Order: sequence, then structure tokens, then C-alpha cells
Amino acid sequence: MNSKVNITDVTGRDGFQMEKKWIETQDKVGIMNAIIEAGVKRIEATSFVSPKAVPQLQDARQVIEGLQRENIDVIALVPNLKGAEFAIDANVDEINVVVSVSETHNRKNVNKTVEESILTIGEINKLAIDNGKKVNVGLGTTFGCPFEGLYEVEKVVDVIKSLKEEGVDSFILADTTGMANPLQVTHFVKTVNKLFPEDHFGLHLHNTRGMGLANLYAGYEAGIRDFDAALGGIGGCPFAPGATGNVCLEDIVHMFELMGVPTGIHVRDLMNTAKDLEKLLGYKLPGQIMKAGLSTDTHES
Ligand code: COA
Ligand code: ZN
Repeated sequence: MNSKVNITDVTGRDGFQMEKKWIETQDKVGIMNAIIEAGVKRIEATSFVSPKAVPQLQDARQVIEGLQRENIDVIALVPNLKGAEFAIDANVDEINVVVSVSETHNRKNVNKTVEESILTIGEINKLAIDNGKKVNVGLGTTFGCPFEGLYEVEKVVDVIKSLKEEGVDSFILADTTGMANPLQVTHFVKTVNKLFPEDHFGLHLHNTRGMGLANLYAGYEAGIRDFDAALGGIGGCPFAPGATGNVCLEDIVHMFELMGVPTGIHVRDLMNTAKDLEKLLGYKLPGQIMKAGLSTDTHES
């Protein structure tokens, strides 16, 4: 039961994409290198998207060049073939391509129909294979969408089937705007694991409605071992109304370690880096243990 979990830090991509005020490249790199130093082995560092759509991430290539890359996997998110070409040119280890289950959100996010995105992902997958890179597909709005409401799992299963026809075998179920509840997560994860046992599924959760850690635990119990998270709980999708932060990296490391589930990450180092991030961004971050300390810390009576 207590098998290890793999945590992918998405501070550089999902976290910073939501920040309006420009963050200097060296500051982004400094935070991410500290996260790597704390033991994180997978990092979604940035995205290769239109600088008009997400101005904050226009330094994607320079960010990747600044990272300490020994023994870690650097991932970039891309929305289209052009982004995939840039990511390969920047020598990332893996490419995360995004498509939303919701037609409305997909249109707002990447200006394509879901079907068009799926065909593009097929092309990206071929290009990636030719260049020795792995592709994971992030299924945005897996559990529901602010425009179309909550979903039945069948809607997601149909999208996965179409993507499998394009050669995809690794998926990230993304609760883009924190609409999922734990029982829904259990049901969705069990369903996809049963229908597609040979494929790989991770979870990308947001704490928008306070259910982030409950959903994470439900996913863990249902068999997921790969989770995304962002330092201090920052982040969100600029193309979804009311979006807020990811599940908080140091909070989930703390929770897993207390449960006896190894993460390989030093939680105290992350707490210090979260405080640095708070200073850098200039507002209170939603992370909990950076305020409260660890459960194992005791105070003098
Ligand atoms: N990287 C950098 N620039 C890109 C690009 C990429 N991957 N893809 C397109 N562009 C540029 C084009 O060169 C063009 O530039 P120009 O206006 O100077 O000529 C401009 O962006 C528009 O290109 P076009 O192909 O017409 O795209 P679009 O206007 O239909 O926008 C996307 C589509 C996907 C490029 C845009 O919606 C996007 O980048 N979305 C990002 C979504 C995101 O990051 N969401 C959050 C994470 S889920
Ligand atoms: Zn997200």
C-alpha cells in the first residue's frame, strides 16, 4: 500500500502562467532550482505557447536553459505543433500536450475544436517519437467545466479512445477549476484504469473549492501514483473563470510523508522556498504548512 508516489512540480508552468506581474527569468529559475534541490525529480517548467496568450511564459527557452537538469525530467506544456517544435529544440525530456474535454474550454484555451486538437496531438506524438521524446496528454476539465458543468465519465472515455487511436498512452486527468469531488475521482480513476489497463494515468488537481487534498487522497486510494502540484498552492488557468491554485506541493509532500508514503522530497526545504516565493510574488500564498509548520513540530508548552 505504501508504494512511492511521483510528484511533478508545475510551479513554473501552471503557477507562473497566472501571474500578471512580470517575474524575471532568473527569479523563476531560482525558485525551480530550489525545488529540484529539495528532491523533486519531475518539473513542468514552462509552456511554449503564444506570447500573446500567456505573456508571462515568453521566456520558456531561457528558463529551460537555466535549470539544473541532472537526473531530473524537464517537461514543457504545448498547445500545438509549433510549440512542440520549440520544446524539442529546447531539448526538454517530455512534452505535455493539452486538450480539454469541454468544447467550450478547448476553444477558449487553444482556439480549436476537441477533434482538431486530437488530430494535432497525433502529429505532435509522431514528431516526438522521431525525436526520442515522451508525450503525455493533459485532459483539461476532465471532471467538469465552468461553461458546461459536471461530466459523466463516458465523455472522458470517448476522448481517451480517440487519443489512443493517435498513439497516446499517457494521460493526466486535470481538474482545471477544482470542480471534482472525491467520490467522482474514485469513480473516474477506477473506470479508466479498468478500461485502459495498459495506459498510464496521473492526476492534476486544483483546490478551487477546498477539495484538492480530499480528491488527491481519493486518487491515491484508487491507484494513482503520479500527481502534479505547485509550490505555495499557486496557479490556475487564465482561460477559465474563477480558476485558482493547484494543490500545494509542500502540503501534499507533508501529507504523503505523514501517511508513510515516500516522496523523496525534503518538505522543510520546500517550506523555505515557498516563503521565498511569497516574497517574490508579494502576496499571501494559499499553502497551509508554510503558515502552520509540520504536524510533527511541537511547541514549548
Ligand atoms: N509558441 C509561440 N508562439 C505561437 C505558438 C507557440 N506554440 N503558436 C502560435 N504562436 C503565435 C503565432 O506565431 C502567431 O503570432 P503572430 O500573431 O505574431 O503571427 C500567434 O501566436 C497566433 O497564432 P495562431 O496559430 O493563429 O494561433 P491562435 O491565435 O489560434 O492561438 C494558441 C492558438 C494555441 C497559439 C493560443 O491560444 C495559445 O497559445 N494558448 C495557450 C493556452 C494556455 O497556455 N493555456 C493554459 C494552460 S492549459
Ligand atoms: Zn492546472
